[in-house]
Amino acid sequence: MAKYQLTSCVLVLLCFLGCANLLLAAHVVEGIPVTVPAAPSQFSGGSHSHRDRIARRVADLISPSPSQTSKSSATNSASRVYHVTDYGADPTGKSDSAAAISKAISAAFAAAAASGLSLFAGIANLGGVEIHLDGGLYLISSPLVLPPGVGNINIHGGSLRAADDFPADRYLIELWAAHSTSQKNSSSADGGASSEYAYEFVTLRDLVLDCNYRGGGIAVVDSLRIGIDNVYIVHFTSEGVSVQAGHETMIRNSFIGQHITAGGDAGEKNFTGTGISLAGNDNAVTDVVIFSADIGVLVSGQANSLTGVHCYNKATGWGGTGIYLKLPGLTQTRITNCYLDYTGIVSEDPVQLHISGSFFLGDANVVLKSVKGVINGVDIVGNMFAGGGKDVDIVKLDGKFTDVNQVTVSRNSARGMTARSTAARATVDGNGTTWAVDFSPVLLFPDRIGHVQYTLVAADSAFPSHRLRNVSANRVVIESDVAVSATVHVEVDQGLGSMSAI
Ligand SMILES: *[C@@H]1O[C@H](CO)[C@@H](O)[C@H](O)[C@H]1NC(C)=O
Ligand SMILES: *[C@@H]1O[C@H](CO)[C@@H](O)[C@H](O)[C@H]1NC(C)=O
Ligand SMILES: *[C@@H]1O[C@H](CO)[C@@H](O)[C@H](O)[C@H]1NC(C)=O
Ligand SMILES: *[C@@H]1O[C@H](CO)[C@@H](O)[C@H](O)[C@H]1NC(C)=O
Repeated sequence: MAKYQLTSCVLVLLCFLGCANLLLAAHVVEGIPVTVPAAPSQFSGGSHSHRDRIARRVADLISPSPSQTSKSSATNSASRVYHVTDYGADPTGKSDSAAAISKAISAAFAAAAASGLSLFAGIANLGGVEIHLDGGLYLISSPLVLPPGVGNINIHGGSLRAADDFPADRYLIELWAAHSTSQKNSSSADGGASSEYAYEFVTLRDLVLDCNYRGGGIAVVDSLRIGIDNVYIVHFTSEGVSVQAGHETMIRNSFIGQHITAGGDAGEKNFTGTGISLAGNDNAVTDVVIFSADIGVLVSGQANSLTGVHCYNKATGWGGTGIYLKLPGLTQTRITNCYLDYTGIVSEDPVQLHISGSFFLGDANVVLKSVKGVINGVDIVGNMFAGGGKDVDIVKLDGKFTDVNQVTVSRNSARGMTARSTAARATVDGNGTTWAVDFSPVLLFPDRIGHVQYTLVAADSAFPSHRLRNVSANRVVIESDVAVSATVHVEVDQGLGSMSAI
């Protein structure tokens, strides 16, 4: 069964990815004639020095002169764009560039911090200073740790690769005060941190991070308003991105996978690690693909939002999970417009969870896992589910829920899977005194009907007395006082209580 599933996964992925690739390719080919680089004279924004620098770089490209380049570094320019190659970083990836890049970061921060302006209390506003990776691929033997208390910074434009001796419990880029040598010291004379946040508005973009199976990609700890944009993170052993405490880290337009694969990988069963771990509140993951990992996105903080996330990290059949919501009792997570591709969503004791507009392919489903039996304020509505005709429930309960409130699973489409819902209706014809409907094949919760409505439409001129006779084990029985030929329409809802908003 697992083998069959994998094979069909390959076929479906080939189609989906293949078609997408073709479309993309057509776009790019068409795009070439119109994408004419702006002439230098057309530059309207930015400082003169920035423009000069670009001109110089273009000249360097035409006639490279490395010694001259390294001499004419940021020292003779007012530019706040710090090129790591000016600090001795090796863009060919042959020699260790950790120290050189750290030097560039220190120089950039020292110069920019002189403004004395701040963002959030205790966070220096570095004005938008850029650490430019110059399109190189750099080998690093130790993490790039930003000093705490900084904000308004961009690091972008190149690749980082962990060296074979990179510490396996660390991340290539760390916004993590505890790991910084210039750690804020709250017991020191100056009082140390005046803020509970160590970083604000740091943007990491246009980066490829190759963790070389040594630790993780990016760690964001105690941070506020961080942007991770257009990054490609591979070969991690722990997490691609780990967010801990703080709030509002935005992870967008990115590709994250432990192994470089396009799906249906022979080694999929052995994939480990987590694509993104959100152990903090108010973060957003938007338009991100997780193409390989045991867990795609692990959420253990509140009020996070996932939109346009495509998970094909590891098939459920191999034990993988697309999105794991591990925060029983107070979930507060929104999952919209996502694509769960052969791997599903698991939520423990969900309390306030919304899943809508998402596509579940290859028998992927939503599993609601009981910890203390609490499920409250859950909407799973308007999604598409497609499977291989193996009777997999689109939403499945794992364990017994005893405290159930405001749960709506409804208006989902199921193809080749078994629809499950918290509301259902049926029509039965009969000739006699009893009309019975067993709703257990479609209702989500066993033995739970909170609300019944029925209409008895008698044939001929019959005018019988009738009543709802019995509701138990998700079965509804209607009886009439005399035998009659009639059609009965029944509608049930699994909500409970004398009154509830619907
Ligand atoms: C913090 O400051 C105190 C007092 O100045 C010092 O004794 C301690 O070693 C410092 N800790 C760190 C981690 O720097
Ligand atoms: C998965 O890992 C096990 C144990 O390390 C190994 O024996 C097996 O060959 C691996 N399977 C694949 C498909 O790589
Ligand atoms: C209903 O059953 C009665 C008694 O068996 C029979 O006379 C009648 O024709 C039936 N009506 C219909 C519509 O089948
Ligand atoms: C309702 O139906 C159940 C199961 O069929 C039965 O055990 C129970 O006694 C019935 N209750 C009444 C009031 O008829």
